[in-house]
Amino acid sequence: PKPNIAPTPPMGWNSWNKFACNVSEQLLRQQADAMAASGMKDAGYQYIVIDDCWQKSRDADGNIQADPERFPSGIKALADYVHSKGLKFGLYSDAGSLTCGGRPGSAGHEFQDARQYAKWGVDYLKYDWCNTGTRNAEAAYTIMAKALRESGRDIVLSICEWGTDHPERWGPKVGHLWRTTGDIFDAWEGQKDWSLGMTNILDLQVERADAASPNAWNDPDMLEVGNGGMTTTEYESHFSLWAMLAAPLVAGNDLSKMDADTVRILTNKDVIAVDQDPLGKQGRRVLRQGELEVWVRPLQGGEFAAVLFNRSKAPADMKLTWDRLGLPADRKADVKDLWSKKVTKDVSGSYTGKVASHGVIMVRVTPQR
Ligand code: GLA
Repeated sequence: PKPNIAPTPPMGWNSWNKFACNVSEQLLRQQADAMAASGMKDAGYQYIVIDDCWQKSRDADGNIQADPERFPSGIKALADYVHSKGLKFGLYSDAGSLTCGGRPGSAGHEFQDARQYAKWGVDYLKYDWCNTGTRNAEAAYTIMAKALRESGRDIVLSICEWGTDHPERWGPKVGHLWRTTGDIFDAWEGQKDWSLGMTNILDLQVERADAASPNAWNDPDMLEVGNGGMTTTEYESHFSLWAMLAAPLVAGNDLSKMDADTVRILTNKDVIAVDQDPLGKQGRRVLRQGELEVWVRPLQGGEFAAVLFNRSKAPADMKLTWDRLGLPADRKADVKDLWSKKVTKDVSGSYTGKVASHGVIMVRVTPQR
């Protein structure tokens, strides 16, 4: 069986959204330093993951080699450095002949690569799906899962085949998380080649909620918070909704240059606690009225998280009614607003608020005994 190393959705940082192929050991050390110093580590972020383009070639024996100009000290030294900060280390590869960025893939080298990763001290592998020809996705990912297990090291397997072959059906037994869509890009909405804006990605998640459980998470792709393409309000919505989805929280911004809002959003402990709730049930959209939506996520111990989401261009008065939570109208509950931190005691029937354009009100509802 796969190791029990993602009982709650993985939290970390990945180089792709901000830096794409512009990776190096200096950058990675700087991001690890920043994760430890900025409060991100204290908030629960753990993995530092190099995405595509760290690889260069294979040696005569087929061993994968890091780009010697960008990683002159080698991957082992970098992994040791990340570990010395109390963090975990991740790498990227691909089930095809070449990665999406044209570097050597792992097809035909799965066991050799997995042994190498284990020797280097890799804790997390993002495994992509470019240049895979006629390979069957479940079979290809199952081979890498077996190779990782046989490496003797516990390594999270992040499946990245973009939801093309129903990963929600086989992903739970093969890996710890699986991408559900093409790539996110840093915008409220839209489409750009293979990439989708935040709300477009969100809309593709609603049918998939059932598949999620501890060690098996739908992955709506990494966070864009802090990258500049959305407003602060929109980034609060992005972060809140990803927490409702029990999504892996993988920051994709420059951790060494965060403004106060970026830190405040990414380290909101109440929102993170929703994402990391041990019950491991993904939230659902329970109401959609035009551009106004209500999302609900059941939490451990009979509590709930709820989001009132306003996609419209104007502020809106919105209401969470108790029937959406499955509670009788007269049931009293305490309600905490997870962004303003305001607690309202003895609420029954419904909770209302004015929601900013493109914003959310996110609450934790604690029914009284
Ligand atoms: C694919 C993945 C992205 C990223 C790039 C790297 O597009 O979906 O998340 O890993 O490849 O080339």
